[in-house]
Amino acid sequence: MSIPLSLTVNGKSVQAEVEPRTLLVQFIREQLRLTGTHQGCDTAQCGACTVHLNGQAVKSCSMLALQAQGGAVTTIEGLEKNGELHPMQAAFRECHGLQCGFCTPGMVMTAIKLLEDKPAASEHEIREGLEGNICRCTGYHNIVKSIQHCQAGSTATA
Ligand code: FES
Ligand code: FES
Repeated sequence: MSIPLSLTVNGKSVQAEVEPRTLLVQFIREQLRLTGTHQGCDTAQCGACTVHLNGQAVKSCSMLALQAQGGAVTTIEGLEKNGELHPMQAAFRECHGLQCGFCTPGMVMTAIKLLEDKPAASEHEIREGLEGNICRCTGYHNIVKSIQHCQAGSTATA
């Protein structure tokens, strides 16, 4: 049995049919083919599947696609504007905030929300804010540096 699903993804209206058990991450990756959102654990631990739903960072493996009915989803693919990386993506590139890149889309989505909520977050608060996102490569140091770099940039232009 499929159910109609209507939502906005990266600013575009999307109409689809999904089975009630379809997870949001499956819908994003398999039906919309937006494979920048990664799936690392399926148990809401790794954060690789993080997207924004109605302005909140959510783990898309821990909710059903139908729970996003009528909502607005932003994935990592939706961050670029006019061919320019989002300042957080640019900061990760600048500060070597990634190695294999598997965790990166989720880290970036979490980090953007973190600074939206707390523009002046301390290093401790940034580390705390990343607790739901696991990286196996970087030791987190350059990820934190990237977020601080982005933070300094937005403070400079504020
Ligand atoms: S795949 Fe969603 S938290 Fe790991
Ligand atoms: S860069 Fe490889 S898991 Fe984070």
